[in-house]
Amino acid sequence: MVALPPEGPPEVAFAGRSNVGKSSLINALVGQSGLARTSNTPGRTQSLFFYVPDLASASPDALPPVALVDMPGYGYARAPKKTVETWTRLIHAYLAGRAQLKRVFVLVDARHGLKPADETLMNEFDRAGVSYQIVLTKADKVKPAPLDEVRIRTAEAIRRHAAAHPEIIVTSSVKGDGLDALRAEIVSFAR
Ligand code: GTP
Ligand code: MG
Repeated sequence: MVALPPEGPPEVAFAGRSNVGKSSLINALVGQSGLARTSNTPGRTQSLFFYVPDLASASPDALPPVALVDMPGYGYARAPKKTVETWTRLIHAYLAGRAQLKRVFVLVDARHGLKPADETLMNEFDRAGVSYQIVLTKADKVKPAPLDEVRIRTAEAIRRHAAAHPEIIVTSSVKGDGLDALRAEIVSFAR
């Protein structure tokens, strides 16, 4: 059994299918490329990681005391079955009873939109009353028209989900799109 850290500052978690760009988005948010480990191989992140951005480096972009929680991906991680089962137990234990968890960002690839595995997770969050928000990732890889289509389709889908935040944030960790909007959401929890 892997122990969770004691509760400290408010937490926001980054969930989503393997390889969707969770770790990259955390790195882009804090402006440190090597903080959260990223890779082309789905299944890079193999446990929960808690990053508390360093306030001492008070740049205009600095985030307030809030833990950014990087999670293993679901869907098709290239990892042994036993390992995936361990992550799954850990993730469920974390998501079920964490008072300090303010919101889960559910990351969705802007090229593909919501997949069944996302819907499954969202249904669980609806039942458990976990507040979540859809973040489209890798927007730099999609042309404006198909991006709009995915955005509209996703907005329609989340209307059926009780615990989903109605606003969708469109991001690119490579180009920096959407980072300010994401920071503004995170700052609102840290007060
Ligand atoms: P797991 O931990 O394996 O679940 O993956 P993850 O969701 O943390 O994804 P990760 O951040 O490791 O990124 C996966 C791949 O997508 C890497 O090769 C990244 O460089 C790439 N990537 C992530 N974000 C972006 C983005 O905004 N644009 C582009 N073009 N590539 C991205
Ligand atoms: Mg990762």
